[in-house]
Amino acid sequence: MHGRSLAIAAAIYAAVSVAAAQSSGFAKKGGNPEAAKMKNPVAATAASLAAGKRSYQRLCEKCHDPEGKGNGTAVTETQPPDLTDAKWEFGSSDGEMFAAIHDGTSKDMEGYKERMNDTEIWNVVNYVRSLRAR
Ligand code: HEC
Repeated sequence: MHGRSLAIAAAIYAAVSVAAAQSSGFAKKGGNPEAAKMKNPVAATAASLAAGKRSYQRLCEKCHDPEGKGNGTAVTETQPPDLTDAKWEFGSSDGEMFAAIHDGTSKDMEGYKERMNDTEIWNVVNYVRSLRAR
């Protein structure tokens, strides 16, 4: 059941990626209605949050900082947005967050599809959401 919903989400996402690739290849600013339709197939269990935290520390913290406020040490020109507030440039749903991480948003925020599989990205989505509650 779990594997099946993952496969369905992957299939939906493949279709969405193809559509996105035909425009710019990056997630869209102002929200992404197609990506918003994607359901997060990974429950935010303790195991998912722990795995998401490991990826976040390895790949994201240098820019987004441990709290997700965007004050990391590797920040160059563009200040990363606060991931703990209610303002989401690329959409606030799990699916839109997935698209921003999977495809990237700009040269400042690269896509992670070569470095993370879909489950790892969903784990990070769950972890980033948990940062808000602190
Ligand atoms: C090199 C610095 C850097 C790294 C590393 C990085 N980001 Fe980003 N991130 C940014 C910047 C800068 C933006 C804003 C980009 C823009 O406005 O186009 C951003 C935007 C985002 C957004 C969109 C926020 C919104 O308001 O919609 C999400 C989600 C995100 N990053 C998550 C992550 C995750 C998860 C990782 C690790 C897998 C990561 N980022 C790694 C710099 C980085």
